[in-house]
Amino acid sequence: MRYYFITLMTVFLFTKEINGQIHSIIPFPAEMELKQGNFLFSNSVNIVFDKAMFINSNYLNSYLAKQYTVRPQLTEEPKNYIALRLNTKNNKTNSNEAYHLLITNDSIVISGSEAGVFYGIQTLLQLMPSEPKQQFEIPCMSIYDYPRFDWRGMHLDCSRHFFSVAFVKKYIDMMAFYKMNKFHWHLTDDQGWRIEIKQYPKLTEIGSRRKETIVEKNFDPYVGDKIPYEGFYNQQQIKEIVSYAAARQVTIIPEIEMPGHSQAAIAAYPELACYGMSYNVLTIWGVSEVVLCPTPEVIQFYKNILDEVMALFPGQYIHIGGDEVSPDHWKKSKQVTDLMIKENLKTYHEVEAYFIKSIELHIISKGKKMIGWDEILDGGVSESATIMSWRGVEGGIAAAQKGNYAVMTPGEYCYFDHCQSKNLNEPICIGGFLPIEKVYQYEPVPSVLSAEHSKYILGAQANVWTEYLTTPEQVEYMIFPRIMALSEVVWSQKSSHDWWDFVGRMQSHFSFMELRKQNYRVPEPEIQLRLQIENKYVVGISSLMHSAQYYYTTDGSEPNTTSIKYSEPFEITITDSQKIKAIAITNSGKKSIVVEKSK
Ligand code: ACM
Repeated sequence: MRYYFITLMTVFLFTKEINGQIHSIIPFPAEMELKQGNFLFSNSVNIVFDKAMFINSNYLNSYLAKQYTVRPQLTEEPKNYIALRLNTKNNKTNSNEAYHLLITNDSIVISGSEAGVFYGIQTLLQLMPSEPKQQFEIPCMSIYDYPRFDWRGMHLDCSRHFFSVAFVKKYIDMMAFYKMNKFHWHLTDDQGWRIEIKQYPKLTEIGSRRKETIVEKNFDPYVGDKIPYEGFYNQQQIKEIVSYAAARQVTIIPEIEMPGHSQAAIAAYPELACYGMSYNVLTIWGVSEVVLCPTPEVIQFYKNILDEVMALFPGQYIHIGGDEVSPDHWKKSKQVTDLMIKENLKTYHEVEAYFIKSIELHIISKGKKMIGWDEILDGGVSESATIMSWRGVEGGIAAAQKGNYAVMTPGEYCYFDHCQSKNLNEPICIGGFLPIEKVYQYEPVPSVLSAEHSKYILGAQANVWTEYLTTPEQVEYMIFPRIMALSEVVWSQKSSHDWWDFVGRMQSHFSFMELRKQNYRVPEPEIQLRLQIENKYVVGISSLMHSAQYYYTTDGSEPNTTSIKYSEPFEITITDSQKIKAIAITNSGKKSIVVEKSK
């Protein structure tokens, strides 16, 4: 029995304590020092701020009002205040995102750049209770913090399924809470074009609508749901989201796929393909073989699209896709054959590279940078292109060794559409297996890179493809709690990584998610069996969520709240055919998947 106690004790021993309280800051800060005393938070708190901190002060003020019904005053008071100060001088690192947070008995001072202070606010919010109290204490401490990587990304595929403006904003809020700063917005694909382009209205009139959607994984024989599906963001909504993100230090990287993953655009303007046929917006998952034709007219069409896109998104980067381009469509095209002769292009990878390079020149001419999936390396890429390494880490390594910047998003560690367990009860997911432990283990800088080349690794990003995610709740299920592990990978110093310490800190974040009305995946219980004698076993049940209640059955029936409630390891005789089934249920009634164990 000792074994189970050791497992539980490990969790508690490794959590950090502040004045007897466990702190739960995620991602873990670079430097922190605990002090005596507490700051009392109540309605008499004042927020004072430098002019440059106006947006930050509004953010903090409305968060406190919404979550805690604390309504700070915005006046200067000698005592009991939170000060947001612009101070970039006292910065020990090169990071523009560093901050100091100093909590004493009568004041909280957060200083740094506008971005730094925003992150200091996020840390402060995580020191607050995860229940909506009106008055509470925060322990005195001093924190100096800065990120390990500049690129801390989350992607969302809004083509396969469309997500409302309200949800995109919530997604940005969820990112900001964990100091994630790059929102890669996948806006176009074979299954839907989701951004208004004023010069080409059919992109949304036709390209944003599909006749129906495949039902789950019914590829062969194909079964469609017979329900028309549509949705797009107009330019006004995009501007609104861009400014919402900016106030949360999140830069949006819009992705306009080319020359593959473009069937929705081709359905709207068939002249974008090499043959004059008619095409539909795809209703099935997978990659269309129909791609853009690399003619001057098509390239100009896409430059025109990008002009509108670049005017909407103030960030540096424009993502042009570039992945999974099938050459089949080009093989029989006279235009492509002529182009290959004229430009001396030997392979279809070089044809793609020709397309991408023409587009990149245009992007650069507007003062922006191009980023694309790692296939853009295959036909040769310019020195200025940034590479998103998704087919493993090889693309990132090749890019860095050539002196191209890279963002690491290898499927094995960063695809949040992958399943979180191998259990058949897991809700539908695309495949793969990516539990939170594995996300936490990820190291974005490949060990083969020299120190010199490692500098080209900008950071890492999780991708959330939505073929099987139709609702916000499903997206939240896929990102929580895995985003927390990723945030620690990309923000915290490598030396502070400690899985059990992280698990300890994660506990109050389950309550934060309740407070913030976010769905999450309730970690499933693990049933541990330890043989005593013959068929006699000791059974222990535990999970990564310590406040959950576990219920179990030993007769094969599905466990629920009327089943036996687990309180401590117990002895049981188990027959060969017998199964123990368990479920975790949170205080708010959320349920984990059911797990089972036989001997
Ligand atoms: C990708 O997952 N096709 C970039």
